[in-house]
Amino acid sequence: MNALPASLVTAISAVGQSEVLRFYDALDAAGRGRLRAQLESIDWDQIPRLCHLAASAGSPAEAAGADFTSRLANAVTPPCLTLGGPTAETTAAIGRRALALGHIGAVLVAGGQGSRLGCQGPKGVVPVGPVSGASLFDILLGKLRAVRRRHGAHVPLAIMTSSATDADTKTWLREHDHGGLDPEQVLVFRQSDLPALDATSGKILLDAPDRIAMAPDGHGGMLPALVAAGGLEWFAARGCRDVVTFQVDNPLTMPLHPEFLGHHIGQAADFSTQVVRKHQPGERVGIVATSAGRTFVVEYSDLPANLAAERRPDGLLRFHAGSIAVHAFALDFLNRAAAAADPLPLHLARKSVPHLTPDGQRVVPAQPNAIKFERFIFDLMPLAERVCLVEIDPAEGFAPLKNPPGAAADAIEHVQAALVAHARGLLAKGGICVADAVVVELDSASILDEDDIRAAVPPGSRIDSPRLIGG
Ligand code: UD1
Repeated sequence: MNALPASLVTAISAVGQSEVLRFYDALDAAGRGRLRAQLESIDWDQIPRLCHLAASAGSPAEAAGADFTSRLANAVTPPCLTLGGPTAETTAAIGRRALALGHIGAVLVAGGQGSRLGCQGPKGVVPVGPVSGASLFDILLGKLRAVRRRHGAHVPLAIMTSSATDADTKTWLREHDHGGLDPEQVLVFRQSDLPALDATSGKILLDAPDRIAMAPDGHGGMLPALVAAGGLEWFAARGCRDVVTFQVDNPLTMPLHPEFLGHHIGQAADFSTQVVRKHQPGERVGIVATSAGRTFVVEYSDLPANLAAERRPDGLLRFHAGSIAVHAFALDFLNRAAAAADPLPLHLARKSVPHLTPDGQRVVPAQPNAIKFERFIFDLMPLAERVCLVEIDPAEGFAPLKNPPGAAADAIEHVQAALVAHARGLLAKGGICVADAVVVELDSASILDEDDIRAAVPPGSRIDSPRLIGG
């Protein structure tokens, strides 16, 4: 009963990983079923490659790839377009037209857990609205509703979940009427997991007798997972020509900003990305660089400290284009990338991963003991013929929630302060005075810009107590 298929056992032993089966015979039927499902989800043919990578990776730079150091040595920051320049109106008109024609789709990358925040479950359900208590999902999906109201066409939305967030995300969508979006225009798809390897032995770790220690394969898992879910056809069938991607942790994000889209479309770019000016070497954002005709992102953890700190004669950091992980892709480009053999490299991270010893004792290591593997979606950038960088003001579009309360940066108090400051700024532009220290919030589904502010609150009025504008 419950014997594993011989082909599966052979595949596992052929790559020297039979230890994952050491407790199998002692499991009950349910446990055997759970382990079997995980074993069947693993691509055993790629395990030797993971082991080889883990064994050969000394430093983060080595792990990032053989030509990494020489590519960076000659790299510079590419030119960036900006928002609000002399051509702002004509550029924005291009973006508005694409939105009105329904040419733009969106992918919300929401596979990460709230573990760095110290909470369980998907990050998307974390409440951040300073007045409303709205969750990240409420705010982000609200932005798509606002765009639909303004431009009259849907922005089809694909939400990427992971094994850690899939069930809770679907529950949230069910219980919250899909965030007010038409369910026909929402696709939930799940990224894959990859096993964690013991850093010394290269063996796959067991988290429990019936469970392999696995983790989501990074947001680069988006491309294969979207393809597997029929997502590229799903967007095409809805008339999309370009797709923006954005992260669940940033409630100020503006992936559908008409001028950003206008730059992307006007430049006929394969891949456009929003950047913020990086001022200090320690800011935890990836940087965009260009060398030998190719543009690429280097993750902050992979950028050597001396290069991160290097400054140009004008005082700017040599690598000052900080990626905020808001991208726009031509759908044609995503189709071409999906057809390429293995387009995204694996990145390695040393982590502390709880596991079972050979005799079944569970240990929770204090030091990193394991290697986890991730793919990053921005690694598609070097494949793009035309890349467009658009610098934005972080006060307008970047307030990520990364850390628990009390942290020096990117904690809930910083995110809420940024949301309030943004709301106060827009209210001031709309001719509304807000008393000092009064907390105000913009309802993301109602307020896109000053025009919406003027419709919601009469110009010249004054706000003296906490208020959700437009809600
Ligand atoms: C990320 C970027 C960094 C950028 C910064 C801006 C990467 C590797 N790093 O850093 O370059 O400057 O955001 O805020 O992208 N996620 C998944 N599945 C996964 C892993 C992550 O969906 O397997 C999602 C998370 O839900 C989150 C986003 O990807 O929305 C970012 O992941 P995170 O690990 O928090 O990256 P950061 O270190 O913050």
